[in-house]
Amino acid sequence: MEIIIQPTPDAASIIAARIIAQLVRSKPDCVIGLATGSTPIATYNELIRLHREEGLDFSNVTTFNLDEYVGLPPEHPQSYHAFMQEHLFRHINVSSKRIHIPNGMAKDVAGECARYEYAIRAAGGIDLQLLGIGSDGHIGFNEPTSSLASRTRIKTLTERTREDNARFFNGDLGQVPMHCITMGVGTIMECHQVLILAFGAKKAQAIAEAVEGPITAMNPASILQMHAVAKVLMDEPAAGSLRKRDYYRYVWENKPTWQRV
Ligand code: F6R
Repeated sequence: MEIIIQPTPDAASIIAARIIAQLVRSKPDCVIGLATGSTPIATYNELIRLHREEGLDFSNVTTFNLDEYVGLPPEHPQSYHAFMQEHLFRHINVSSKRIHIPNGMAKDVAGECARYEYAIRAAGGIDLQLLGIGSDGHIGFNEPTSSLASRTRIKTLTERTREDNARFFNGDLGQVPMHCITMGVGTIMECHQVLILAFGAKKAQAIAEAVEGPITAMNPASILQMHAVAKVLMDEPAAGSLRKRDYYRYVWENKPTWQRV
């Protein structure tokens, strides 16, 4: 894992956007996995700026989102379909035909999950997956004790995750769906490159366990230690519990010029 500690969420997000932009420029028909939640918003804002001001072209890019709530139609303001339109898709020139988000309204949920896995394979796999991390270490909505080999499937959200996400539902826990469809940990591990973002002290423990703890289904993000190309970008508060944080800063500061983003 490459650990990148930055002074602010914006500084880390600019690096994440640059890595994504480099991929889009070098492989215009790349496949990008996207996340929702508060964490990736600044990265999306920077990608929108790069599109508007520097002509970053998404017209041949294919996207796959990590997850969607079961029972929320795409037009529901808190659905991840709506989130992606609002925070990214409507501001860039990605083709709607190349956007993939699990259908939370599918009657045949198992069939929808199998279809999603098939679509990822048919697209040639995911070149780069952007991830946030839950305060309990989840990636996608793979909650603690999720199989580290899991594929896209239905999951029950923990109370903690529902409480964390209640802020998107006017603080009303009763409105937060109980279930979601999420890419599995195994699905995420097959992506060629993973970028994981974490901001704020609330993520410090999950990040310390994921980066420096044992690999365990109790912190699903910890499996990324086994990923060949995983970058973990964070601000100072999220790095607060890392034992080797001085070493990670030292590595970043002394990166060979040719390796810099
Ligand atoms: C979102 C997702 C989740 C979030 C995580 C962090 O698509 O899969 O894993 O990345 O819950 O959420 P925020 O960024 O809101 O703290």
